[in-house]
Amino acid sequence: MRRAEEMERVAERVNACTRCQLWQTRTNPVVGTGSVSARILLVGEAPGYYEDLKGEPFVGKAGKVLDELLESIGLNRNDVYIANILKCRPPGNRNPLTDEIQACTPYLDAQLELIQPEIIATLGNFSLAYIFTKFGLKPEKISKIHGKVFSVRTIGGFKKIVPLYHPAVAVYNPGMKEVLLEDFKVLAKILPPRGQIEL
Ligand code: URA
Ligand code: SF4
Repeated sequence: MRRAEEMERVAERVNACTRCQLWQTRTNPVVGTGSVSARILLVGEAPGYYEDLKGEPFVGKAGKVLDELLESIGLNRNDVYIANILKCRPPGNRNPLTDEIQACTPYLDAQLELIQPEIIATLGNFSLAYIFTKFGLKPEKISKIHGKVFSVRTIGGFKKIVPLYHPAVAVYNPGMKEVLLEDFKVLAKILPPRGQIEL
């Protein structure tokens, strides 16, 4: 399958990447997981401690929250694709730096290009800032726009962008989990039944 092969190519490039300093301190790069024909792409921030060890996104506490959120709308990890802005872990889980984001986002762009998701859900501020800017939207405060649906027109067709809080905010805060659960309902609502969108 072509998409799978193209994703393999991206993974090979990431594995060999030295475009920013983070390759020096990473254990494993985290390319992403899920279906290359997913209709929803979830974009997180960067690998943390466990992701770096395992080479997979969202395998720590925030990942458990993410699994619950997906399950709440009848989805699992194989129904979506999960990627991050940065493919390598920043030491100590510090915030991504501007030059790291600039160096790494061509890989996310390539993933977007090959998956062609109908819906992009951003997880957290760095993801929101990058995706909004990329699609010509003005980033606003997550507290103001979380769970709202932004439609954009691209060469590949219309897409919906939904900014969400990062699942990590709900790890020790049940109130935020409730907010995320409500916002995930929006994702379920805007995903039309598969048959209806095929021409
Ligand atoms: N947080 C993220 O943003 N991404 C991961 O993969 C794990 C935690
Ligand atoms: Fe390359 Fe991205 Fe890793 Fe930096 S974070 S080394 S740009 S793959």
